[in-house]
Amino acid sequence: MAAPTPTQGTANTPSPALGLRDRHGRTATDLRVSLTDRCNLRCTYCMPEAGLPWLPKPELLTDAEVSRLVGIAVRDLGVNEVRFTGGEPLLRPGLVDIVTAAAALEPRPEISLTTNAIGLERLAAPLVAAGLDRVNVSLDTLDPGTFKELAKRDRLEATLRGIEGAAASGLAPVKLNTVLMRGINDAEAPALLRFAVAHGYQLRFIEQMPLDAAGVWRRDEMVTAAEILEALKAEFDLVPDPAHRGSAPAETWLVDGGPAKVGVIGSVTRPFCGDCDRTRLTADGQVRNCLFARGETDLRGLLRDGASDAEIGARWREAMWGKLPGHGIDDPSFLQPARPMSAIGG
Ligand code: 5AD
Ligand code: SF4
Repeated sequence: MAAPTPTQGTANTPSPALGLRDRHGRTATDLRVSLTDRCNLRCTYCMPEAGLPWLPKPELLTDAEVSRLVGIAVRDLGVNEVRFTGGEPLLRPGLVDIVTAAAALEPRPEISLTTNAIGLERLAAPLVAAGLDRVNVSLDTLDPGTFKELAKRDRLEATLRGIEGAAASGLAPVKLNTVLMRGINDAEAPALLRFAVAHGYQLRFIEQMPLDAAGVWRRDEMVTAAEILEALKAEFDLVPDPAHRGSAPAETWLVDGGPAKVGVIGSVTRPFCGDCDRTRLTADGQVRNCLFARGETDLRGLLRDGASDAEIGARWREAMWGKLPGHGIDDPSFLQPARPMSAIGG
């Protein structure tokens, strides 16, 4: 079936709404924009130690191109939340300007950042002034040696400084994301939660997904949401959070009666694809309708060929219309996406 056109609905697309709908009844309103495929860490579940063949500069969207596409998404396509990711988005020189441009849009989207926090103690204040609303920081361990083993760089101190800087700049509540790996940091789940609760950070554990560059992910080695909960329940009193989950992927629990909460994102064992409201734009201007999509839709070429906002919006809607119902990680025919997480954008 063809994508719905702005002026005409079909039996499946009753309203002529301009949103990023798909044929399974979902509408994407949450845009993830990768601003660079580079990173100053090498988390094993994401990037090989030697790095990757980085995108050549001419292939990256310029700051103005990023802002134009974000503008089309917000003004014309119903996107109301914009999250900047990478790679490591703090490495993007134009980040503050890109946030400023997003914050000037009408209607004003929610603006957030997924980051490893290195350098955030310097950048948090200018980013808040530019309009940044929230940050999610990756923190997998509190042990310097484990950090080095896991991220191949000795940067735990820098990460912790960045997290403190974010909180001090009013970005509270700071959300922390943890990926547990068996035999590496899985024993740290309770310690990480104690740390988060003590500082007022909101911790979420994310099941490791098959997005590593080396392609060595194994379903039977992954630390599951059920295991994580069991480990936490041994030390904490967890009660399901009465607040509704909605399209948020994290299932949340109140910790020791609240108000502290912990989230568990069971991307693999408790997939939430049916509620997915995301659309993704890579640093080189490709729309991906899913983290695990096998294909991409080129907006950069269209943009550089002089296409109008309406033409770009139509192509974007078409790309989303073809979104599959789920990631199919459990399907025997599942294939890992050709790009690792760092090149797609979390
Ligand atoms: N599986 C699960 N989460 C991942 N992240 C990066 N790679 C993976 C993976 N393979 C997380 C990071 C970061 C966010 C962008 O996604 O921890 O917090
Ligand atoms: Fe960098 Fe994030 Fe990938 Fe770690 S997970 S290597 S911090 S992009």
